Amino acid sequence: MAHTPTSRQATDKHDGATTAIADNQPNAVELAMFHRLSKIIDPELGRSITDLGMITAIQATPRDAHPSTFDVTVHVELTVAGCPLSKTITSQINSAVESYPEATLIPHIEVSAMSQDKLADLVAQLKAERRQNPFTKPGVHTRIFAIASGKGGVGKSSVTANLAATFAALGYDTAAIDADIYGFSLPRLFGVHTQPTNLNGMLMPVVSWGVKLMSIGMFAGSERAILWRGPRLQRSLEQFLSDVWWGSPDVLLLDMAPGTGDMAISVAQTLPNAELVVVTTPQPSASEIAVRSGLVALQVPMKVRGVVENMSYFEHKDERLEIFGHGGGKRVSEQLTHALGYDVPLLAQLPLEPEIREIDDSGRPAVLDPSGKLADTPLAAQFTTLAQSLISSAQ
Ligand SMILES: Nc1ncnc2c1ncn2[C@@H]1O[C@H](COP(=O)(O)OP(=O)(O)OP(=O)(O)O)[C@@H](O)[C@H]1O
Ligand SMILES: [Mg+2]
Repeated sequence: MAHTPTSRQATDKHDGATTAIADNQPNAVELAMFHRLSKIIDPELGRSITDLGMITAIQATPRDAHPSTFDVTVHVELTVAGCPLSKTITSQINSAVESYPEATLIPHIEVSAMSQDKLADLVAQLKAERRQNPFTKPGVHTRIFAIASGKGGVGKSSVTANLAATFAALGYDTAAIDADIYGFSLPRLFGVHTQPTNLNGMLMPVVSWGVKLMSIGMFAGSERAILWRGPRLQRSLEQFLSDVWWGSPDVLLLDMAPGTGDMAISVAQTLPNAELVVVTTPQPSASEIAVRSGLVALQVPMKVRGVVENMSYFEHKDERLEIFGHGGGKRVSEQLTHALGYDVPLLAQLPLEPEIREIDDSGRPAVLDPSGKLADTPLAAQFTTLAQSLISSAQ
Protein backbone atom coordinates (compact mmCIF):
# COMPACT_ATOMS: atom_id res chain seq x y z
CA MET A 1 0.00 0.00 0.00
CA ALA A 2 1.45 3.34 -0.95
CA HIS A 3 1.93 5.77 1.83
CA THR A 4 1.55 9.38 0.85
CA PRO A 5 2.68 11.82 3.50
CA THR A 6 -0.26 14.14 2.98
CA SER A 7 -2.87 11.51 3.63
CA ARG A 8 -0.81 10.06 6.47
CA GLN A 9 -0.33 13.41 8.12
CA ALA A 10 -4.05 13.98 7.87
CA THR A 11 -4.75 10.58 9.43
CA ASP A 12 -2.20 11.10 12.19
CA LYS A 13 -3.94 14.28 13.20
CA HIS A 14 -7.12 12.29 13.75
CA ASP A 15 -5.99 9.16 15.45
CA GLY A 16 -2.44 10.02 16.55
CA ALA A 17 -0.32 6.99 17.20
CA THR A 18 -3.24 4.59 17.45
CA THR A 19 -2.69 3.15 13.97
CA ALA A 20 -3.38 -0.46 14.86
CA ILE A 21 -1.06 -2.27 12.56
CA ALA A 22 1.18 -5.06 13.73
CA ASP A 23 4.91 -4.45 13.56
CA ASN A 24 6.56 -5.17 10.26
CA GLN A 25 3.41 -4.99 8.23
CA PRO A 26 3.98 -2.93 5.10
CA ASN A 27 1.98 -0.04 6.53
CA ALA A 28 3.97 0.05 9.75
CA VAL A 29 7.21 -0.08 7.81
CA GLU A 30 6.08 2.83 5.64
CA LEU A 31 5.10 4.85 8.67
CA ALA A 32 8.38 4.10 10.44
CA MET A 33 10.25 5.08 7.28
CA PHE A 34 8.42 8.39 7.04
CA HIS A 35 9.41 9.10 10.60
CA ARG A 36 13.05 8.19 9.93
CA LEU A 37 13.16 10.31 6.76
CA SER A 38 11.80 13.30 8.67
CA LYS A 39 15.19 13.44 10.42
CA ILE A 40 17.01 14.13 7.16
CA ILE A 41 17.73 17.81 6.68
CA ASP A 42 17.98 19.38 3.25
CA PRO A 43 21.55 20.74 3.23
CA GLU A 44 20.62 23.95 1.45
CA LEU A 45 17.33 24.87 3.07
CA GLY A 46 18.18 23.52 6.51
CA ARG A 47 14.73 21.93 6.89
CA SER A 48 13.53 18.36 7.15
CA ILE A 49 12.93 16.84 3.72
CA THR A 50 9.50 15.66 4.80
CA ASP A 51 8.52 19.16 5.98
CA LEU A 52 9.62 20.47 2.62
CA GLY A 53 7.26 18.04 0.88
CA MET A 54 10.14 16.28 -0.85
CA ILE A 55 9.00 12.76 0.07
CA THR A 56 5.88 12.13 -1.96
CA ALA A 57 5.39 8.40 -1.44
CA ILE A 58 6.84 5.44 0.41
CA GLN A 59 5.89 1.93 -0.59
CA ALA A 60 6.93 -1.24 1.25
CA THR A 61 6.40 -4.60 -0.45
CA PRO A 62 7.23 -7.84 1.38
CA ARG A 63 9.43 -10.34 -0.39
CA ASP A 64 7.45 -13.57 -0.59
CA ALA A 65 10.15 -15.94 0.52
CA HIS A 66 11.42 -13.75 3.37
CA PRO A 67 8.76 -12.61 5.82
CA SER A 68 10.84 -9.82 7.33
CA THR A 69 12.37 -8.54 4.12
CA PHE A 70 10.76 -5.66 2.23
CA ASP A 71 11.46 -3.76 -0.94
CA VAL A 72 11.00 -0.12 -0.01
CA THR A 73 10.43 2.41 -2.77
CA VAL A 74 10.84 6.05 -1.77
CA HIS A 75 9.71 8.78 -4.16
CA VAL A 76 11.75 11.93 -3.72
CA GLU A 77 10.98 15.24 -5.35
CA LEU A 78 13.98 17.53 -5.43
CA THR A 79 13.51 21.26 -5.43
CA VAL A 80 15.64 21.58 -8.55
CA ALA A 81 16.29 18.89 -11.15
CA GLY A 82 19.91 17.77 -11.12
CA CYS A 83 20.47 19.70 -7.92
CA PRO A 84 24.15 19.30 -7.01
CA LEU A 85 23.29 18.11 -3.50
CA SER A 86 20.86 15.42 -4.63
CA LYS A 87 23.49 12.72 -4.07
CA THR A 88 23.85 13.74 -0.43
CA ILE A 89 20.10 13.51 0.07
CA THR A 90 19.62 10.21 -1.75
CA SER A 91 22.51 8.56 0.05
CA GLN A 92 21.09 9.69 3.39
CA ILE A 93 17.71 8.24 2.42
CA ASN A 94 19.42 5.02 1.40
CA SER A 95 21.12 4.65 4.76
CA ALA A 96 17.96 5.58 6.66
CA VAL A 97 16.15 2.73 4.90
CA GLU A 98 18.99 0.19 5.12
CA SER A 99 19.69 0.81 8.79
CA TYR A 100 16.11 0.10 9.90
CA PRO A 101 16.63 -2.26 12.82
CA GLU A 102 13.34 -4.20 12.82
CA ALA A 103 13.45 -5.74 9.34
CA THR A 104 15.62 -6.07 6.27
CA LEU A 105 14.72 -3.26 3.90
CA ILE A 106 16.00 -2.95 0.35
CA PRO A 107 15.87 0.68 -0.78
CA HIS A 108 14.74 1.81 -4.24
CA ILE A 109 14.86 5.54 -4.65
CA GLU A 110 12.89 7.26 -7.39
CA VAL A 111 14.04 10.82 -7.91
CA SER A 112 12.15 13.50 -9.78
CA ALA A 113 11.84 17.28 -9.65
CA MET A 114 9.05 19.27 -8.02
CA SER A 115 6.46 20.80 -10.29
CA GLN A 116 6.79 24.53 -10.87
CA ASP A 117 3.59 25.14 -8.91
CA LYS A 118 4.68 23.12 -5.90
CA LEU A 119 8.07 24.82 -5.90
CA ALA A 120 6.45 28.25 -6.14
CA ASP A 121 4.28 27.40 -3.11
CA LEU A 122 7.27 26.17 -1.14
CA VAL A 123 9.35 29.26 -1.91
CA ALA A 124 6.42 31.51 -1.06
CA GLN A 125 6.05 29.70 2.26
CA LEU A 126 9.76 30.02 3.05
CA LYS A 127 9.81 33.67 2.06
CA ALA A 128 6.81 34.41 4.22
CA GLU A 129 8.74 33.08 7.19
CA ARG A 130 11.31 35.81 7.10
CA ARG A 131 11.45 39.52 6.54
CA GLN A 132 13.14 41.12 3.63
CA ASN A 133 16.51 41.34 5.22
CA PRO A 134 17.00 38.36 7.53
CA PHE A 135 19.76 40.05 9.55
CA THR A 136 17.63 42.82 10.97
CA LYS A 137 15.07 40.51 12.61
CA PRO A 138 14.80 40.83 16.37
CA GLY A 139 16.59 37.98 18.08
CA VAL A 140 18.98 37.30 15.22
CA HIS A 141 22.30 36.51 16.79
CA THR A 142 24.58 36.87 13.74
CA ARG A 143 27.75 38.88 14.38
CA ILE A 144 28.40 40.96 11.26
CA PHE A 145 31.88 42.24 10.54
CA ALA A 146 32.46 44.60 7.63
CA ILE A 147 36.09 44.41 6.51
CA ALA A 148 37.01 47.88 5.27
CA SER A 149 40.00 49.96 4.31
CA GLY A 150 40.74 53.42 3.02
CA LYS A 151 43.27 52.42 0.40
CA GLY A 152 42.77 49.63 -2.13
CA GLY A 153 44.95 46.56 -2.31
CA VAL A 154 45.83 46.36 1.39
CA GLY A 155 44.42 42.86 1.73
CA LYS A 156 40.75 43.20 2.75
CA SER A 157 39.68 40.33 0.53
CA SER A 158 42.52 38.08 1.68
CA VAL A 159 41.73 38.87 5.30
CA THR A 160 37.99 38.29 4.72
CA ALA A 161 38.57 34.95 2.99
CA ASN A 162 41.02 33.62 5.56
CA LEU A 163 39.00 34.87 8.49
CA ALA A 164 35.82 33.29 7.08
CA ALA A 165 37.60 29.99 6.48
CA THR A 166 38.98 30.14 10.05
CA PHE A 167 35.54 30.77 11.58
CA ALA A 168 34.08 27.89 9.58
CA ALA A 169 36.92 25.54 10.54
CA LEU A 170 36.39 26.48 14.18
CA GLY A 171 32.79 25.30 13.84
CA TYR A 172 30.92 28.58 13.42
CA ASP A 173 28.13 28.74 10.85
CA THR A 174 29.81 31.29 8.60
CA ALA A 175 28.74 33.39 5.65
CA ALA A 176 30.71 35.87 3.55
CA ILE A 177 29.52 38.40 1.01
CA ASP A 178 31.43 40.29 -1.62
CA ALA A 179 29.89 43.63 -0.75
CA ASP A 180 32.10 45.21 -3.40
CA ILE A 181 29.63 44.92 -6.24
CA TYR A 182 31.90 46.47 -8.84
CA GLY A 183 34.99 44.48 -8.10
CA PHE A 184 34.83 41.07 -6.47
CA SER A 185 37.31 38.54 -5.18
CA LEU A 186 35.62 35.85 -3.13
CA PRO A 187 34.77 33.39 -5.94
CA ARG A 188 38.44 33.24 -6.94
CA LEU A 189 39.75 33.08 -3.37
CA PHE A 190 37.39 30.20 -2.58
CA GLY A 191 37.78 28.43 -5.92
CA VAL A 192 34.08 28.81 -6.76
CA HIS A 193 33.16 28.27 -10.39
CA THR A 194 29.49 27.47 -9.98
CA GLN A 195 26.43 29.67 -9.83
CA PRO A 196 24.16 29.63 -6.80
CA THR A 197 21.15 27.34 -7.11
CA ASN A 198 18.11 29.43 -7.96
CA LEU A 199 14.86 28.29 -6.34
CA ASN A 200 12.22 30.37 -8.07
CA GLY A 201 14.09 33.56 -7.44
CA MET A 202 15.49 32.61 -4.05
CA LEU A 203 19.20 31.86 -4.20
CA MET A 204 21.16 29.31 -2.22
CA PRO A 205 24.64 30.58 -1.33
CA VAL A 206 27.47 28.51 -2.74
CA VAL A 207 29.26 26.67 0.07
CA SER A 208 33.02 26.43 -0.30
CA TRP A 209 35.54 25.44 2.38
CA GLY A 210 32.58 25.41 4.78
CA VAL A 211 31.64 29.06 4.13
CA LYS A 212 28.30 30.21 2.64
CA LEU A 213 29.34 32.60 -0.10
CA MET A 214 27.59 35.09 -2.26
CA SER A 215 29.20 37.33 -4.81
CA ILE A 216 28.02 39.24 -7.79
CA GLY A 217 30.98 37.66 -9.53
CA MET A 218 29.02 34.41 -9.60
CA PHE A 219 26.57 36.00 -12.04
CA ALA A 220 29.06 37.67 -14.37
CA GLY A 221 27.28 39.07 -17.38
CA SER A 222 23.84 37.87 -16.35
CA GLU A 223 20.70 39.95 -15.91
CA ARG A 224 20.83 39.48 -12.16
CA ALA A 225 24.25 41.15 -12.05
CA ILE A 226 22.74 44.18 -13.75
CA LEU A 227 19.67 44.10 -11.52
CA TRP A 228 21.74 43.93 -8.36
CA ARG A 229 24.04 46.71 -9.40
CA GLY A 230 21.00 48.95 -9.52
CA PRO A 231 21.19 52.71 -9.24
CA ARG A 232 21.68 52.80 -5.48
CA LEU A 233 24.29 50.93 -3.58
CA GLN A 234 22.12 50.45 -0.54
CA ARG A 235 19.25 49.01 -2.54
CA SER A 236 21.68 46.63 -4.19
CA LEU A 237 22.98 45.41 -0.87
CA GLU A 238 19.47 44.97 0.51
CA GLN A 239 18.52 42.85 -2.47
CA PHE A 240 21.69 40.89 -2.14
CA LEU A 241 20.76 40.04 1.43
CA SER A 242 17.08 39.34 0.93
CA ASP A 243 17.27 37.32 -2.30
CA VAL A 244 19.51 34.75 -0.66
CA TRP A 245 18.56 32.00 1.75
CA TRP A 246 21.16 32.52 4.47
CA GLY A 247 19.76 30.40 7.31
CA SER A 248 21.03 31.88 10.56
CA PRO A 249 24.82 32.13 10.48
CA ASP A 250 26.83 32.86 13.61
CA VAL A 251 29.12 35.14 11.64
CA LEU A 252 28.67 37.17 8.48
CA LEU A 253 31.69 38.85 6.92
CA LEU A 254 31.40 41.60 4.34
CA ASP A 255 34.30 42.18 1.99
CA MET A 256 33.99 45.89 1.30
CA ALA A 257 35.14 48.12 -1.51
CA PRO A 258 38.00 50.45 -0.57
CA GLY A 259 37.06 54.00 0.32
CA THR A 260 36.00 56.22 3.11
CA GLY A 261 32.30 56.77 2.74
CA ASP A 262 29.39 55.51 0.70
CA MET A 263 29.80 51.82 1.14
CA ALA A 264 30.10 51.90 4.94
CA ILE A 265 27.08 54.19 5.20
CA SER A 266 25.02 51.84 3.04
CA VAL A 267 26.09 48.90 5.18
CA ALA A 268 25.25 50.73 8.40
CA GLN A 269 21.79 51.59 7.08
CA THR A 270 21.10 48.10 5.79
CA LEU A 271 22.72 46.18 8.63
CA PRO A 272 22.58 48.26 11.79
CA ASN A 273 24.38 45.53 13.74
CA ALA A 274 27.43 45.53 11.49
CA GLU A 275 30.79 46.27 13.10
CA LEU A 276 33.72 47.66 11.17
CA VAL A 277 37.16 46.08 11.03
CA VAL A 278 39.70 48.41 9.44
CA VAL A 279 42.57 46.87 7.47
CA THR A 280 45.71 48.86 6.85
CA THR A 281 49.31 48.32 5.88
CA PRO A 282 52.13 49.76 8.02
CA GLN A 283 53.09 52.78 5.89
CA PRO A 284 51.77 56.27 6.73
CA SER A 285 50.04 56.79 3.36
CA ALA A 286 47.82 53.79 3.99
CA SER A 287 47.20 54.44 7.65
CA GLU A 288 46.10 58.07 7.20
CA ILE A 289 43.36 57.12 4.83
CA ALA A 290 42.51 54.06 6.93
CA VAL A 291 41.74 56.38 9.85
CA ARG A 292 39.29 58.22 7.62
CA SER A 293 37.56 54.97 6.68
CA GLY A 294 37.02 54.35 10.40
CA LEU A 295 35.79 57.86 11.10
CA VAL A 296 32.64 57.06 9.16
CA ALA A 297 31.50 55.67 12.52
CA LEU A 298 31.06 59.26 13.66
CA GLN A 299 28.31 59.69 11.06
CA VAL A 300 26.48 56.40 11.48
CA PRO A 301 25.75 54.31 14.55
CA MET A 302 28.31 51.64 13.72
CA LYS A 303 31.07 50.44 16.00
CA VAL A 304 34.63 50.06 14.84
CA ARG A 305 35.61 46.72 16.33
CA GLY A 306 39.33 46.97 15.67
CA VAL A 307 42.24 47.31 13.30
CA VAL A 308 44.17 44.65 11.40
CA GLU A 309 47.61 45.53 10.10
CA ASN A 310 48.43 43.45 7.04
CA MET A 311 51.80 42.91 5.35
CA SER A 312 53.41 44.02 8.62
CA TYR A 313 56.70 42.20 8.18
CA PHE A 314 58.42 39.57 6.13
CA GLU A 315 60.10 36.81 8.04
CA HIS A 316 63.47 36.04 6.55
CA LYS A 317 66.01 33.79 8.30
CA ASP A 318 64.33 34.42 11.67
CA GLU A 319 64.51 38.16 11.10
CA ARG A 320 61.45 40.36 10.68
CA LEU A 321 61.97 42.74 7.76
CA GLU A 322 59.59 45.67 7.83
CA ILE A 323 59.28 46.12 4.11
CA PHE A 324 56.34 48.52 4.20
CA GLY A 325 57.55 50.52 7.19
CA HIS A 326 56.31 50.44 10.69
CA GLY A 327 53.50 51.45 12.98
CA GLY A 328 50.49 51.96 10.67
CA GLY A 329 48.18 49.65 12.58
CA LYS A 330 49.11 51.17 15.93
CA ARG A 331 48.59 54.70 14.61
CA VAL A 332 45.15 53.84 13.23
CA SER A 333 44.16 52.16 16.49
CA GLU A 334 45.28 55.13 18.60
CA GLN A 335 43.71 57.77 16.40
CA LEU A 336 40.37 55.97 16.15
CA THR A 337 40.34 55.29 19.89
CA HIS A 338 40.90 59.00 20.47
CA ALA A 339 38.35 60.21 17.90
CA LEU A 340 35.59 57.72 18.71
CA GLY A 341 36.01 57.73 22.46
CA TYR A 342 36.21 53.98 22.96
CA ASP A 343 38.91 51.38 22.63
CA VAL A 344 39.63 50.43 19.00
CA PRO A 345 42.35 47.83 19.50
CA LEU A 346 45.00 46.65 17.08
CA LEU A 347 43.74 43.10 16.73
CA ALA A 348 46.43 41.51 14.57
CA GLN A 349 49.66 42.14 12.69
CA LEU A 350 49.78 39.72 9.81
CA PRO A 351 52.98 38.91 7.93
CA LEU A 352 53.72 39.46 4.29
CA GLU A 353 53.48 35.86 3.28
CA PRO A 354 53.90 34.86 -0.38
CA GLU A 355 51.86 31.76 0.43
CA ILE A 356 48.79 33.93 1.04
CA ARG A 357 48.87 35.08 -2.54
CA GLU A 358 49.81 31.73 -4.06
CA ILE A 359 47.26 29.65 -2.17
CA ASP A 360 44.57 32.31 -2.49
CA ASP A 361 45.01 32.22 -6.23
CA SER A 362 44.62 28.46 -6.22
CA GLY A 363 41.18 28.68 -4.62
CA ARG A 364 42.01 27.60 -1.08
CA PRO A 365 42.38 30.12 1.74
CA ALA A 366 45.94 29.90 3.07
CA VAL A 367 44.87 29.12 6.64
CA LEU A 368 43.46 25.74 5.57
CA ASP A 369 45.29 22.57 4.74
CA PRO A 370 44.17 20.62 1.67
CA SER A 371 41.67 18.62 3.75
CA GLY A 372 39.93 21.83 4.86
CA LYS A 373 41.17 21.77 8.45
CA LEU A 374 43.07 24.68 9.97
CA ALA A 375 46.69 24.32 8.90
CA ASP A 376 49.34 23.86 11.55
CA THR A 377 51.03 27.17 10.74
CA PRO A 378 51.73 30.44 12.56
CA LEU A 379 49.43 32.19 10.07
CA ALA A 380 46.47 29.92 10.90
CA ALA A 381 47.19 30.45 14.60
CA GLN A 382 47.11 34.24 14.11
CA PHE A 383 43.80 34.06 12.27
CA THR A 384 42.39 31.82 15.01
CA THR A 385 43.33 34.41 17.63
CA LEU A 386 41.81 37.16 15.47
CA ALA A 387 38.56 35.19 14.99
CA GLN A 388 38.32 34.46 18.70
CA SER A 389 38.93 38.04 19.74
CA LEU A 390 36.27 39.27 17.31
CA ILE A 391 33.60 36.79 18.35
CA SER A 392 34.27 37.16 22.05
CA SER A 393 34.33 40.98 21.98
CA ALA A 394 31.35 42.67 23.57
CA GLN A 395 28.91 43.91 20.94
N1 LIG B 1 49.70 39.22 3.93
C1 LIG B 1 49.89 39.10 2.62
N2 LIG B 1 51.01 38.53 2.12
C2 LIG B 1 51.20 38.43 0.79
N3 LIG B 1 50.32 38.82 -0.13
C3 LIG B 1 49.18 39.36 0.30
C4 LIG B 1 48.88 39.52 1.69
N4 LIG B 1 47.65 40.09 1.81
C5 LIG B 1 47.20 40.29 0.56
N5 LIG B 1 48.12 39.86 -0.36
C6 LIG B 1 48.04 39.94 -1.82
O1 LIG B 1 47.91 41.32 -2.15
C7 LIG B 1 47.01 41.53 -3.21
C8 LIG B 1 45.87 42.48 -2.76
O2 LIG B 1 45.14 41.83 -1.73
P1 LIG B 1 43.56 41.89 -1.67
O3 LIG B 1 42.95 41.68 -2.99
O4 LIG B 1 43.15 41.00 -0.58
O5 LIG B 1 43.38 43.41 -1.25
P2 LIG B 1 42.03 44.26 -1.16
O6 LIG B 1 42.25 45.23 -0.07
O7 LIG B 1 40.87 43.39 -1.07
O8 LIG B 1 42.05 44.98 -2.57
P3 LIG B 1 40.84 45.84 -3.21
O9 LIG B 1 40.91 47.16 -2.52
O10 LIG B 1 41.25 45.93 -4.65
O11 LIG B 1 39.59 45.12 -2.96
C9 LIG B 1 46.52 40.16 -3.60
O12 LIG B 1 47.31 39.69 -4.67
C10 LIG B 1 46.79 39.31 -2.36
O13 LIG B 1 46.99 37.95 -2.68
MG1 LIG C 1 39.15 43.32 -2.30
